[in-house]
Amino acid sequence: MPETGSGGSAPEWWRGAAIYEVYLRSFADGSGDGVGDLAGLRSRLGYLAELGVQALWVTPWFPSPMADAGYDVADYRDIDPVFGTLAEAEDLIAAAHRAGLRMIVDLVPNHCSVEHAWFRAALAAEPGSAVRELFWFRPGRGPSGEEPPNDWQSIFGGPAWTRTKSPDGTPGEWYLHLFAPEQPDFNWANPGVREEFESILRFWFDRGVDGVRIDSAAVLIKDGTLADAAGDPGSPYTDRDGIHDVYRGWRAVADSYPGGRALIGEIWLPDPERFSAYLRPDELHTAFNFPFLESAWDAGALRESIDATLDVHARVGAPATWVLCNHDVTRQVTRYGRADTSWSLGHRQHGAPTDLSLGTRRSRAAALLTMALPGGVYVYQGDELGLPNVEDIPDDRIQDPFWVRSGHTNRGRDGARVPLPWSADGPSAGFGPAGTTAEPWLPQPADWVRWNAAAQRVDPASMLSLYRGALACRAAEPALGDGPLRWLPAPEGVLAFARDGAPGVLCVLNLSDRPVPLPGHAGVLQVSDPLVGPGELAPDTAAWLRLP
Ligand code: NOJ
Repeated sequence: MPETGSGGSAPEWWRGAAIYEVYLRSFADGSGDGVGDLAGLRSRLGYLAELGVQALWVTPWFPSPMADAGYDVADYRDIDPVFGTLAEAEDLIAAAHRAGLRMIVDLVPNHCSVEHAWFRAALAAEPGSAVRELFWFRPGRGPSGEEPPNDWQSIFGGPAWTRTKSPDGTPGEWYLHLFAPEQPDFNWANPGVREEFESILRFWFDRGVDGVRIDSAAVLIKDGTLADAAGDPGSPYTDRDGIHDVYRGWRAVADSYPGGRALIGEIWLPDPERFSAYLRPDELHTAFNFPFLESAWDAGALRESIDATLDVHARVGAPATWVLCNHDVTRQVTRYGRADTSWSLGHRQHGAPTDLSLGTRRSRAAALLTMALPGGVYVYQGDELGLPNVEDIPDDRIQDPFWVRSGHTNRGRDGARVPLPWSADGPSAGFGPAGTTAEPWLPQPADWVRWNAAAQRVDPASMLSLYRGALACRAAEPALGDGPLRWLPAPEGVLAFARDGAPGVLCVLNLSDRPVPLPGHAGVLQVSDPLVGPGELAPDTAAWLRLP
């Protein structure tokens, strides 16, 4: 395994790595059935190595009925046939390592699928049986149990409880699901669940994976009294104290393997103190930085978010991460092209007026900003192509459970999941292999080839060329990646900071509406768009300079 990651010795690669999120269903389709798979990913490892990232996070690849695009797992120790086989996954891990790429799998511990063997056994068993204790089964309220056991709501909409039926059709107990009804929640108070997940971790570490992204990491532990939430929706299950014990156990498993196996939490928590508790030295290594992703395109808001992030992480000695997008949110080219550039309105902004060329310009600058900040950085597939969110998917092609569960009011997250355009020709812009006719699982817009990777690869002004140049520079500059940041004085609406080192790097980002002179420097390393005038930075652009 080669040395990878900026600013850190190999076992601590996660402190400064650039990590690429592969949304497997939409990355590359090797089999020609319209769904991305392991063969497709394997065939594009060269592209990813050339892009200059150090690790891949691959979204769930386990057997699944795909009620939530694979986040409903039927078997944590195998691969869904639509993606390939376990042998292919093992080969892929080895091939990625040979290409200098670490591999991160996506583990879903809060819930499984209704097709998971434990849940099927629980459904078949009597109320009160041991196997039902692995989940949250409860009798309903009301004279004949026709009301859910409490008032908790599913994150996708509707009640968080579904009633079971006995084989003869009579209604039985209810079970808890914070997400879709096809995703029953595990009972993490049960030691059997804890043992099982530590064993699953070992299963994948034994196969050489370098890290685990932990889905919905802060909601595993429930208030065991199952009292009503009474207007405070997340409180009975979000960030309950017992969770830290779970992750201490996981950390001990990770630490028992050589080579630096990283635990990465998907933790959406507004309270910085509570967030940092997950990153104590005996818990998770890093977590996604969602407050930054939610921040508006505004100098004050970004600076505040950066300072808060660095402060929170410094308390526990953990590296920060920087994320602009993932498969759950609106692509940044679209978000930054709107009047409200924050993520405060989420999917409710669907269809709002969007200036894509402004959004693209800002996304280019944001890429340089995130890659210059201390810690690790994530690239979501398609960020590097500048893909916009697709917001005109026909109603009958929408797959996201949000759509149905919200009574067709929330179009959900499919707009960020449309299969990638790889080339200018071919039936699905190169997403499927030549000669196949299967339609991609989500429709690509008619002009999708406009963003194809092959054309961008040879265009020095493309988003792909910007990403490749910046990632290469980031990997080569010892001052970038993990390490300290020093703010520099800057005019109103401009952010400027130094990454000290020998040599050091200076990053400057102009969020004002007028060109600003570059600060004193000893050379230009990267620019998000051409400079104007004699060394002036245009609005909505960023530059990396050699620190004098
Ligand atoms: C977070 C994942 O990123 C999202 O796609 C999924 O729907 C939920 N967790 C539930 O697993």
